[in-house]
Amino acid sequence: MGDEALISDAEFRLSMRHLAGAVSVITVGDGQDRTGFTATSVSSFSAEPPSVIVSVNRASSSWPALERYGCFCVNVLAADQQHVAQSFAGINGRRGADRYDGARWYRLRTGAAALENALTVLDCELETAFHHHSHAILIGHIRAIEIRQGIGPLLYWRGGYHELPMDVDRDGLAKPLRQ
Ligand SMILES: Cc1cc2nc3c(=O)[nH]c(=O)nc-3n(C[C@H](O)[C@H](O)[C@H](O)COP(=O)(O)O)c2cc1C
Repeated sequence: MGDEALISDAEFRLSMRHLAGAVSVITVGDGQDRTGFTATSVSSFSAEPPSVIVSVNRASSSWPALERYGCFCVNVLAADQQHVAQSFAGINGRRGADRYDGARWYRLRTGAAALENALTVLDCELETAFHHHSHAILIGHIRAIEIRQGIGPLLYWRGGYHELPMDVDRDGLAKPLRQ
């Protein structure tokens, strides 16, 4: 019996709704050829070399651009950047370069767009892409990093955006729940 018969699509989706995740926007391309997507699949991969992984649906508008440009930025969103998440998820029908409206952007090393005031920006060269069914797992070799202090992350959980309830001390560090 195949796995498909054991787990329904609805069951899988319901389970994944319980997986809380940090929200990032992946930017790729240049000028009017820019596009990108909102992603919760970003994960730290290795420190040597500094790298992250991201999964991308190969049916999305971003996949051909990732193959063409060979670089991307992971913009980890701060709690006050929910509007950017919505734009890059295509919620308001925006596509391509229009998704960049309503936020300010700059460049680091690779040329992919870095979001002003993101919690952290990882400017990556696309080192490898592993194909598996509908998706690809990207390994991004980090070439430049930016970090913002004093604000918490934007989180996604059970179909909605959330902030982490936290106190930020003078060093910009969140206090843990219990010590
Ligand atoms: C919270 C959230 C997380 C998402 N995470 C991913 C992801 O990790 N990988 C992915 O390919 N799409 C993800 N998506 C879907 C994309 O953001 C987007 O809807 C899709 O790529 C748009 O495709 P298009 O550019 O062809 O319009 C996510 C959407 C939301 C709202």
